[in-house]
Amino acid sequence: MNNIIPWTGEDDAVIATNTDATECKRSAVELGYWKDDYIVYFAKHVDRKAPEINRGYYARVKAMEMFIHQFLERCGTKCQIINLGCGYDTLYWRLKDTTQAVGNFIELDFPSVTAKKCHIIKRNKQLLEKICNEDGEVVIRSGDLHSDGYHLLGCDLCCLGEVRRKLEAGGAARDAPTLLLAECVLVYMQPDAAQALLEHLAATFPRCVLLLYEQCNLGDKFGEVMLRNLSVRGCALAGERYCREPQAQVQRLLGAGFETVRSWDMDTVWRALPEDDRARVEALEMLDERELLQQLNSHYAITVATRGELFADLDLNA
Ligand SMILES: C[S@@+](CC[C@H](N)C(=O)[O-])C[C@H]1O[C@@H](n2cnc3c(N)ncnc32)[C@H](O)[C@@H]1O
Repeated sequence: MNNIIPWTGEDDAVIATNTDATECKRSAVELGYWKDDYIVYFAKHVDRKAPEINRGYYARVKAMEMFIHQFLERCGTKCQIINLGCGYDTLYWRLKDTTQAVGNFIELDFPSVTAKKCHIIKRNKQLLEKICNEDGEVVIRSGDLHSDGYHLLGCDLCCLGEVRRKLEAGGAARDAPTLLLAECVLVYMQPDAAQALLEHLAATFPRCVLLLYEQCNLGDKFGEVMLRNLSVRGCALAGERYCREPQAQVQRLLGAGFETVRSWDMDTVWRALPEDDRARVEALEMLDERELLQQLNSHYAITVATRGELFADLDLNA
């Protein structure tokens, strides 16, 4: 059966969300919210974002990092990370600078995004030198970048056949402990395609953790405004039905084959961060709109889904 999905105008708007995320990250990094020596290569000079946006991104990056470290603590570096809808995420390079570099790191996004990321990597020595193996070998084949332990692969995540082929080309191993990252990506996919992808990943990797970060509580007035704003930008949330009740996300992931699923809205995450961390970032810039930050935070959530005993106890307060 032919499973080619037509390219739509909406994909361009979805692809543009990557530019947005990268610019927001650079704005927060420039102000000292967290350290990322690599984001500058992916976003040229950006205008300063509003304090609530910077703080929201801080909580997002911090929450992802907390769970990534819990995953790595349990399985060490003999593991793989698969970054779904990776955009210009710099996690690979940031981990490489710590002792926590992983065995294999695979990044997937639309070919137009991975082609640009590949181009940026090739042009910047600081990025390139971190993906070269001892022989300095980096292979670019059919637009995809392969090196020892890092693979950047173009595909539409809605086409399961393509995802399978790309994961195989990237050397994904079924038996390795696997961290799956889906940061603001599944929500842009048609629900059936996203569900098929989740089922495939859960069935393929018996020892895995999925970190899913996306909108939640969209059923209220604030949520309606968020949806309207996105729709005006040509970027409707195809998967919004899973972002209304927090329970809907949990049920969907259990239905896909994950064994434990827990979800926290970002306001809860923010309040659970170590007091020192919160005090440090609160001192970085004045925030007049406290209520707005709280509203924003309560409309995003991090959801952690696991398979395998090793990961069953991952927790926000671990
Ligand atoms: C909001 S950006 C997030 C990027 C990155 N995960 C981050 O958090 O910085 C969403 C990304 O998902 C990608 N994406 C959305 N739908 C996709 C699909 N069907 N196949 C491949 N990539 C997709 C977009 O191209 C974009 O890079």
